[in-house]
Amino acid sequence: MAENKNKPTQVGDTGHVWDGIRELDNPCPRWWLNALYLSGLIVVVYFVLYPSLPLVHESTKGLLGWTQINEYKEDLAKVEAKRAPFDDKLAAMSVNEILADQDMLNYAIGSSKVLFGDNCAACHGTGGAPAAGAGYPNLTDDDWLYGGTVDEIEMSIAKGRQGNMPAHEKLLKPEEVDQLVKFAVDSSNGVTNEAGLALFNAKGCFACHGADAKGIKAMGSANLTDKIWRFSGDEDQIRHTILHGVNDASDKLTRVAVMPQWSQKLSVMLQARAYAIADGEDPDEIDWTDELDGTEAERLSETDIKKLAVYVHQFGGGQ
Ligand code: HEC
Ligand code: HEC
Repeated sequence: MAENKNKPTQVGDTGHVWDGIRELDNPCPRWWLNALYLSGLIVVVYFVLYPSLPLVHESTKGLLGWTQINEYKEDLAKVEAKRAPFDDKLAAMSVNEILADQDMLNYAIGSSKVLFGDNCAACHGTGGAPAAGAGYPNLTDDDWLYGGTVDEIEMSIAKGRQGNMPAHEKLLKPEEVDQLVKFAVDSSNGVTNEAGLALFNAKGCFACHGADAKGIKAMGSANLTDKIWRFSGDEDQIRHTILHGVNDASDKLTRVAVMPQWSQKLSVMLQARAYAIADGEDPDEIDWTDELDGTEAERLSETDIKKLAVYVHQFGGGQ
């Protein structure tokens, strides 16, 4: 056994004895004391360099002038400096050009996740699939009220959407309502219902839903012949839509379906460009001082809306 170099017999004794064990008075080890003095020194250095002592309104500032918020701002500036060239390039591209450029597409999709989460997910659900029965359209299927091309999706976001269907409670007899509910169910199941179709045409439903009941994009009227329901395929729910309509302010039980507008300015610009192209004019020649009066509200920038349009388009349902 190694000899105890502290030789307990030569060490001071505290005079305490516990259950026969003597408490000695050894000095602390050197390494331990040095570590203690060093940590004390670090505290003093830290105290001088960094904000430390809380005063009434703020703390002492420290010689380095470091603050958490500055550190955050510097990091943010670094991220923005990295993004700037992409955002500048993106600003000059159309949504179709972004779709065709894999690098820009990846960038747009990557930076849209947070945008979508912050602005859209509350209604459309994370990833574009809302909770069942929440009353919001699913953006991941290939059924579109207002069209599923990337241009149409961009317009939906910029302009906002609000389908209108009048309440039919006062316009239809109960047995006619039953017949139209049956027609909707039959159409969705691919069953021919001649009498139902005749009533559908006689009551003017075709004017909005189309003579084939497949819906008209310009109105956002739902396709009644597929298995995807805007609201619900439940017979009571179909009846409710027919009786009370959609966004019909005169009916208290009407369904509310409002997609907010995200940039009035962009929607005016997209519209003007589409008209110019339809008229065989060069959209780059448009005089924007004529088209825009400067009061158009913008809740999201044009670049952010482009990013979101391609993001939604690649959910799986884009056309
Ligand atoms: C307050 C709820 C709400 C928010 C927030 C919202 N939407 Fe919508 N959105 C709707 C509703 C409701 C409709 C359907 C309108 C209708 O039925 O006429 C819709 C429709 C759409 C459509 C058209 C779908 C189709 O079938 O043609 C797209 C695309 C869309 N939203 C994308 C977005 C994006 C992107 C955002 C975020 C910037 C967003 N929405 C934010 C409620 C919302
Ligand atoms: C003025 C236009 C208009 C007329 C007329 C109209 N609809 Fe609609 N209808 C719509 C629109 C727009 C929607 C989709 C609303 C939305 O999502 O914002 C809709 C939705 C529906 C739905 C819900 C479909 C689903 O997928 O959940 C049913 C069912 C329906 N309509 C049946 C009818 C029938 C039957 C008639 C005739 C009695 C009729 N509609 C007349 C515009 C119209």
